[in-house]
Amino acid sequence: MSRDELLSNLIFQDHIPVLLKPVTGLLWPEENNILLHGNSSEIRYFDGTFGRGGHYQALKNLIPNFKAVVFDQDLDAVEFAKQKFSTEVQSGCLLVQHANFSQFSSEKWGKFDIMLLDLGVSSPQLDQSHRGFSFYGDGPLDMRMNTTTGATAEMIINESSEEELIQIFQNLGEVRSPYRVVRAIVNDRKIAPYKTTLQLAQLIERVEGWRKKGFHPATLYFQGLRLAVNQELEVLSQTLPEIMKALNPKGRLAVLTFHSLEDRIVKNIFKNSDLGQPVNKKVIVAEREEQLSNVRSRSAKLRVFERH
Ligand SMILES: C[S@@+](CC[C@H](N)C(=O)[O-])C[C@H]1O[C@@H](n2cnc3c(N)ncnc32)[C@H](O)[C@@H]1O
Repeated sequence: MSRDELLSNLIFQDHIPVLLKPVTGLLWPEENNILLHGNSSEIRYFDGTFGRGGHYQALKNLIPNFKAVVFDQDLDAVEFAKQKFSTEVQSGCLLVQHANFSQFSSEKWGKFDIMLLDLGVSSPQLDQSHRGFSFYGDGPLDMRMNTTTGATAEMIINESSEEELIQIFQNLGEVRSPYRVVRAIVNDRKIAPYKTTLQLAQLIERVEGWRKKGFHPATLYFQGLRLAVNQELEVLSQTLPEIMKALNPKGRLAVLTFHSLEDRIVKNIFKNSDLGQPVNKKVIVAEREEQLSNVRSRSAKLRVFERH
């Protein structure tokens, strides 16, 4: 079976992996299997953002003697991994850890041949309104990927100062002028604290109105809030250099981002590293066909780094 056939025959549950062909093609070019000459040396894979394991599943099928260590900070993802891939877990080919990838260290987990960070949230996180990420269904204002720790969106909305909220929406959400929305939040919360996603989404809708068809006025506000709740940019900029150090010589790391600020961080860290060099000078984005079939892929950007 050709590689393309193999990839298109895979069945994914709940979450369609983004840019699957370029991710697998750059992390494990087809000629690698020929170069191995049937030599059974172990190929070690680290996945810091397992989700529903779409990329993991594809790589597992392409690479002989494949051993994986995978992290996810979401307990649902960890439970899913242990159930769906129980055979691999029992045989020791898959080690699943409930952890933030900021907790990764090469001393503890060793060196890897291929590594992946597919940032942001998964489809099940967005789709389940009780997780609080969505402005379509009603749910508690939570937005934590790891529900066992940290401040919720509710705490941030109700307890941050006016200035802090403006910073979050401007710097992380990239909302040009969030002043009226923030003023309304600060006034309203004096009467009753914000508790649910729809309360917040409806307020934003009321203040901002719909400017672009199909683009909910709360989109950027929710994005900023989610990045703040999960401290996503801080984690990425602090941890990426550590993860790059864990690559074996000629090892490759792929990072998929969904936000321009994340992509800028990855681009600069890859460009300025003396450990190796970026594999693709130009960022890789989804082709039109993928963009049409999977909305999440529209904002995806892929960069790959190779260690000397
Ligand atoms: C876009 S999904 C990954 C999808 C996966 N590649 C697939 O094909 O199914 C992102 C996942 O990474 C997790 N995640 C995001 N940031 C994380 C972090 N800093 N540490 C650990 N997990 C993280 C989220 O909980 C989510 O499950």
